[in-house]
Amino acid sequence: MSEPAPSKRLFIKTYGCQMNVYDSERMADVLSPLGYAITDEPQGADLVVLNTCHIREKATEKVYSELGKLKEMREEALAQGGARSTIVVAGCVAQAEGEEIMRRQPAVDLVVGPQAYHQLPELIARTHRARGERLSADFAPEAKFDALAPTARKPGGVTAFLTVQEGCDKFCTFCVVPYTRGGEYSRPVETVEAEARELAAQGVREVTLLGQNVNAHAGEGGLAALVRTLARIEGLDRIRYTTSHPRDMDDALIAAHGDLPELMPYLHLPVQSGSDRILKAMNRAHTAESYVRLIEKIRAARPDIAISGDFIVGFPGERDGDFEATLSLVREVGYATAFTFKYSRRPGTPAAAMPGQVAEAVKDERLARLNALLDEQARAFNAAQVGKTLPVLFERKGRHPGQLVGRSPYLQAVHALAPDRMIGQIVPVRIEEAARMSLGGVLAKELESV
Ligand code: SAH
Ligand code: SF4
Ligand code: F3S
Repeated sequence: MSEPAPSKRLFIKTYGCQMNVYDSERMADVLSPLGYAITDEPQGADLVVLNTCHIREKATEKVYSELGKLKEMREEALAQGGARSTIVVAGCVAQAEGEEIMRRQPAVDLVVGPQAYHQLPELIARTHRARGERLSADFAPEAKFDALAPTARKPGGVTAFLTVQEGCDKFCTFCVVPYTRGGEYSRPVETVEAEARELAAQGVREVTLLGQNVNAHAGEGGLAALVRTLARIEGLDRIRYTTSHPRDMDDALIAAHGDLPELMPYLHLPVQSGSDRILKAMNRAHTAESYVRLIEKIRAARPDIAISGDFIVGFPGERDGDFEATLSLVREVGYATAFTFKYSRRPGTPAAAMPGQVAEAVKDERLARLNALLDEQARAFNAAQVGKTLPVLFERKGRHPGQLVGRSPYLQAVHALAPDRMIGQIVPVRIEEAARMSLGGVLAKELESV
């Protein structure tokens, strides 16, 4: 059976985390047999999908302003005799406020939650036939993955994301994810392995395992066993995973960081705050002390590991002393990189109703101070690589002629002058310069030959 030639244009805009990036690729996969081919701009697209994020208020508001623009664009196109585009809202905003999206922006044709993407072809067909049933947001992760798993992926990429776990049962009091993504669900090891094999066969050298709580993977032996299984796949030389929760960081996974060369020395382990009082109110189930001890244990297994984290400033009730505790935790741990956020009040979460909501100006000031400290640490971490030779997996051409860009084991972007044929290869690069976000170097081989 030959596939129909692509005749319709599909534009997908992705917001939020890497799980959404993965999901967007899967949506493109299920729609391609219907003749939809990806286009880079919404103008002239037959189908526009916004894959949305609900994590903070700003993220959500962006979606509504984008929808306003899409509506205008559609009206202009219709006035000029063009075809009517179909507008779909997917992702976590779709899950959380489906009904409200329809009310606030009637131009939306279809709202589809993260667990219903395998039904997209059918839902879109139905939307085209009638303007009824516009909402699909049931939780059924198993059905989703069964239907979406390894399909024909565009070849060529050196790195890939692979979702292995979805959802969250942790219910941190500030967070919407347990409501938008449902409870924890782990994909079976065999299906993950099959997908990883297919990726490797297509030339992927590095895979990043994704999950809202990826280290809670419930396969036998946990995430450590899954990582060890994948490490045996020929051609798959680098494995990463994100995001982890401190309470699921078990000894087996820590041991894997110590003895498995394929497991990259980078760990994103959000702490959120350094104050035990605030951590308790957040329902994080770890203390500053237990987190620091955990980091020590991980560093004992893998001393050079790059630690990354997430922080929230201005959680309800956060006083100056709590914030100072966060700064001192940062000083104690020493981060290679980090993501920082001002607390955003999310309707329906317990923290939204807590007393002691912090003034915006205070949040701004704390965020600036925290960022300054983390920035210093990031620069120091990068500067410490200068003079070292690091194995770099080249991914693509750089901005300057003759340059390639890749990643160090610590996830730093590294650029160097190198021939195109080295894309997809892991090559020793001597690091000569360091900036806040990236490193520059020279192929170690070339240094030898001079
Ligand atoms: N599952 C991951 C993170 C998911 S959300 C974990 O537990 O670490 C990514 C980050 O967004 C969180 O780590 C947190 O720092 C931030 N975040 C979540 N909800 C937030 C809110 N209401 N306001 C500000 N930041 C928030
Ligand atoms: Fe949100 Fe907490 Fe779950 Fe992470 S662990 S997704 S922050 S509820
Ligand atoms: Fe956002 Fe949903 Fe990811 S809320 S951070 S897109 S899980």
